[in-house]
Amino acid sequence: MKVLGNIRDVQQHVKQVKKEGRTVGFVPTMGYLHEGHLKLIETARSENDIVILSIFVNPLQFGAGEDLDTYPRDEERDRNLAEEHGVDVLFLPTTAMMYPEPMSIQLSVTKRTDVLCGKSRPGHFDGVAAVLTKLFNIVMPDQAYFGMKDAQQVAVVDALINDFNYDIQLVPVATVREEDGLAKSSRNVHLTAGERDEAPAIQESLQAGRQMVEDGERSPARIIESVTKFLESRTRGRIDYIELLSYPELTSVDVIDRPVILAAAVFYEKARLIDNVVFDRN
Ligand code: PAJ
Repeated sequence: MKVLGNIRDVQQHVKQVKKEGRTVGFVPTMGYLHEGHLKLIETARSENDIVILSIFVNPLQFGAGEDLDTYPRDEERDRNLAEEHGVDVLFLPTTAMMYPEPMSIQLSVTKRTDVLCGKSRPGHFDGVAAVLTKLFNIVMPDQAYFGMKDAQQVAVVDALINDFNYDIQLVPVATVREEDGLAKSSRNVHLTAGERDEAPAIQESLQAGRQMVEDGERSPARIIESVTKFLESRTRGRIDYIELLSYPELTSVDVIDRPVILAAAVFYEKARLIDNVVFDRN
């Protein structure tokens, strides 16, 4: 495995790979790798000649008062996991390299972001779009892998690729979960033991909502009310949002008659957790 810290080195390497007619799969992450990330790597591994993994905690996507400073990091462990899982190139840029000075041009994501996490994290997806624009131009992948755990991010990347004509295929990968259903997340380490016990209720509540649709319910309002009650009765975490929207457009629906996302975010003492289910009416 090559470990590269330099943007030019990655670009040179990729040009060479492409000259040889080999395909590049790209997995962008912020590190502290867990099985969710590893699933993306494995999927990329099985579909491409070369797999490039980036680890970069992108300051632009963290708001004031968010967890940029406490975001978990373990570079040595990440390197070993990347190597074991067949990553060809590990790209580890520094903040100084990615943002030598404040950017002259800013991206503003105007659709798909006035809801869900975009609403509670203003500017977050602008920062995601900026870093991915840079990473896509550095890595020039054929396919890029993103987890459905962050379904709104997938919707925004879909828009970014379409709006700016990136010749990249977006590959969404299903959420990897703990045995009790909690979505794997780098932030789970910040849960207390009690919070950890309660957190699977997030997914359970969303599944209960999905079951209502399977049983014939078509009203988003009634589903949200029921999911909220369910979740409030099972966790002391503070609910940030529970929303039901069309997917991937993320617009509100009066009746469930198309693919939708039912998503929740919950604040615990030191972590904010998100989860979702995406499904059609039948
Ligand atoms: P990060 O939170 O490190 O996640 C990297 C990728 O792993 C994302 O595509 C995310 O959806 C996926 N992922 C996280 N948990 C997962 C799980 N339990 N199952 C499946 N996939 C999972 O998302 C980011 O980093 C950043 O916003 C980034 C795209 C790197 C831009 O900075």
